[in-house]
Amino acid sequence: MFKSLIDEIDSVITRDPAARSRLEVVFAYPGFHAVQIHRFSHWLWNHGFCFVSRLFSHIGRWLTGVEIHPGAQIGKRLFIDHGMSVVIGETSEIGDDVTLYHSVTLGGTSNGEGKRHPTLEDGVIVGSGAQILGPVTVGGGARIGSNAVVLKDVPGGVTMVGVPARIVAAREESKADTFCAYGAPSVNLPDPAIGAIDGLHGQLNALAERVAKLEAQLDAEVEAEKKTAVKRKMAGE
Ligand SMILES: CC(C)(COP(=O)(O)OP(=O)(O)OC[C@H]1O[C@@H](n2cnc3c(N)ncnc32)[C@H](O)[C@@H]1OP(=O)(O)O)[C@@H](O)C(=O)NCCC(=O)NCCS
Repeated sequence: MFKSLIDEIDSVITRDPAARSRLEVVFAYPGFHAVQIHRFSHWLWNHGFCFVSRLFSHIGRWLTGVEIHPGAQIGKRLFIDHGMSVVIGETSEIGDDVTLYHSVTLGGTSNGEGKRHPTLEDGVIVGSGAQILGPVTVGGGARIGSNAVVLKDVPGGVTMVGVPARIVAAREESKADTFCAYGAPSVNLPDPAIGAIDGLHGQLNALAERVAKLEAQLDAEVEAEKKTAVKRKMAGE
């Protein structure tokens, strides 16, 4: 249990560039507090103490601004950055290593019995203000842009933005499990404009070399013609 707690704290440090120490995470991360309170209220819920578990989850909401229904199933190392205004409904299921930014809703769209809330598979990143509504499944490693509204299943590894959310990019399989803070992989990628300029520079150098060779060839031919003309003159032709 202690190992998984340390694991959870370290995963926050890995995913938040602003986190400086374990101590800071333990004392100053409302998202971390919300998840720990949920783990306890979920245990109470599963053992039939429904009212007490609701009470604990309400205290958690009051302290952190994050509302997680005690029935929600949450995997390892869920990171809720900033907390505040996150809502996770009763029948939500969240895999391992999922990241939620502030004001995310995993909400229902019906009053019926059974599954009403989303399922987020491992490694999903959900941007601030995004709403994922209904019993939809967001595939592993998918990224949901801030303020997107997701109403349908999302394939793994893709990026969805807009209202209603649409796919704007798909990541290579091997990169889908790599975490990118704020869901932005471009942060550490080479600038494509610099790549294009480097390419043009190479072409320019090759052309300059070719022109220099042609000029030398032309000079040699002109010189040879001059010599031939002088010889002809001397020969009296
Ligand atoms: C969706 C997201 C993951 C995409 O990141 P990315 O892969 O670097 O994608 P890009 O920035 O290259 O954008 C791709 C396209 O989607 C659009 N786009 C990106 N984010 C968008 C958003 N939230 N809503 C609408 N359109 C968005 C871009 O304008 C671009 O469109 P274009 O191709 O027509 O120019 C990122 O923009 C995002 O929203 N991350 C969440 C960040 C967050 O919540 N931070 C809060 C921290 S507190």
